[in-house]
Amino acid sequence: IQEEEKNVEPVIPEWACQRATPFKHFNEQFTEPLEILEKYAELRDQEQDYSRALAFRRASCVLKSLPYKVTNISSLKNIKDIGGHSSRVIKEILEDGYCQEVEDIVNDPWFHKMKLFSSIFGVGPSTAKKWIEKGWNNLQDINIEDLRNDWRVIWGVAFHEELMDSVSRTEADVFAQIVREEAEKILPGVSVVLTGGFRRGKPIGHDVDLLLTHPDVGSEIGLLATLLQRLEEKELILCGNHERSSFSPEVYQRDFKLSMRGQLDHFEKWLGICKFPKTFIEGCSDILTQINVTKKSVIKGSLDDCDEPKTKFRKLSSKALSPVDVFKSKRDWKARRVDLIISPFDQHYYALVGWTGNKHFNRDLRLYSQRVLNMKLTSHGLYDLSKNVTVPASSEKEVFENLNLTFREPSDRNC
Ligand code: CTP
Ligand code: MN
Ligand code: MN
Repeated sequence: IQEEEKNVEPVIPEWACQRATPFKHFNEQFTEPLEILEKYAELRDQEQDYSRALAFRRASCVLKSLPYKVTNISSLKNIKDIGGHSSRVIKEILEDGYCQEVEDIVNDPWFHKMKLFSSIFGVGPSTAKKWIEKGWNNLQDINIEDLRNDWRVIWGVAFHEELMDSVSRTEADVFAQIVREEAEKILPGVSVVLTGGFRRGKPIGHDVDLLLTHPDVGSEIGLLATLLQRLEEKELILCGNHERSSFSPEVYQRDFKLSMRGQLDHFEKWLGICKFPKTFIEGCSDILTQINVTKKSVIKGSLDDCDEPKTKFRKLSSKALSPVDVFKSKRDWKARRVDLIISPFDQHYYALVGWTGNKHFNRDLRLYSQRVLNMKLTSHGLYDLSKNVTVPASSEKEVFENLNLTFREPSDRNC
C-alpha cells in the first residue's frame, strides 16, 4: 500500500542493508533511468572508476526503499545517497517526463553494442570493448576463429538468442526439483536451495542458481561430480565447467577486496548451460505470457555465416557437432544457464546470503561490516578483525544478528 508523500522528512537508515528494498516499488519512473546511467558508467569506466556507477546505484536503491512515489524533489534534499547528478536527473524527469542524458545513452550505438556483447555467456565488458574496437557491430560480425578457444564464448554466441529468453519461476522450480531428486539419491539429506533472483521473489530470471549443502560437513565432497554424471546421463547438460573448491582459511583476508564486488568466492561449483526439455518449458509458458515478457530487449543476430569451430570443447555431452550445429539441430530442449554451487554446511548461511544477493545488497552489507563493525564478510563467513576470530552462523537470521542488523527477508533485498 502506497503511503502519502509526507512533508516531514523521511527517516532513512544510512546503509542499504538496514533498509527493506522490495522488488516492486513506487519509483520505477526514476530508478530505471538511473540504472541506465549506472550501466553506462559501469561499462564505460570499468575497473578504473566504479564510483560513478555506484553513485547512481545508491540513488536508485534508496528510491526503491521509499514507501511512496516521489512527486517533489525537495523531499529528497536530505537523503545523502541521492547526489547532485542523480538529483538533477530526478528533477528533470519530474519536470519533463524524461531525462535528456538518459535518452542520449539509450540512443548511443556504442552502448547498444556493449550491452549486446556483454550479454553473451562468457563475455565481460573488457572483451566486449575489444570486439567493438575490432569494428564488430553485431553477432554476425563475431569471428569464431578469434574466440581463443574459449568454450563458454563459443557456446554463448551459438545459443545467444535462446539464452536471452527469460527463465520463469516455474521452470526454475521444476529444474530445481529434478536436481533435488538426483542429489538426494546420491547423498540423502542433501539440501538444494533455489537462490539468486528467484529467492528474492523475482518472477523471471536470466539463469537458475542452486546452492547445495549437507548438514554433515565433508559429506558434500564428491557430490557435484556424481550429480553432473547423473544429469549427463539424463541428457540435461549441454556444456559447462566444474571448478574445484579453492577455499582455505586465509581467503577471509586475502580476497576480501575482490569479494566486495559480490562476485568472488572459492566454492566448488559448476557454471554452464543445461538442456531444459520443451515439455516442461511449455507447461510453464502460461506464466510467461501472463507477465507479458519472454525476451530481454537486446538486438538479435544469427550465426549463419560462422564457420564451424575447429576446437575441442570442454563439454560433457554432444558428440562431434559444433555448437552452431547443435543450435540448428532439431531438438526437444531449450538451452538455459545454470549455476550449481556446493557449500560446506559450516559456511552455508553466509553462502546463502551471498548467493541470494542481490549484488548491491551484498556490496553494501560487506562495506557496512568493514566500516561499522571492523569485520570482513564474504560468502564463506564473517571474520572479526578486532578479535581475530571467525563468527559462525547456523541460520540466515544469525548472519544478520552477527552483523547487528534487523533481519531482511530475501524479498526485501532487491537493492
Ligand atoms: N554471485 C556470486 N558469485 C558469482 C556470481 C553471482 O556471489 N560468481 C551472487 C550475485 O552477487 C547475486 C547472486 O549470486 O547476488 C545471483 O547471481 P546472478 O544469477 O548473477 O543474479 P540474480 O540476482 O540471480 O539475477 P538474475 O535473475 O538475472 O539471474
Ligand atoms: Mn540468477
Ligand atoms: Mn547466476
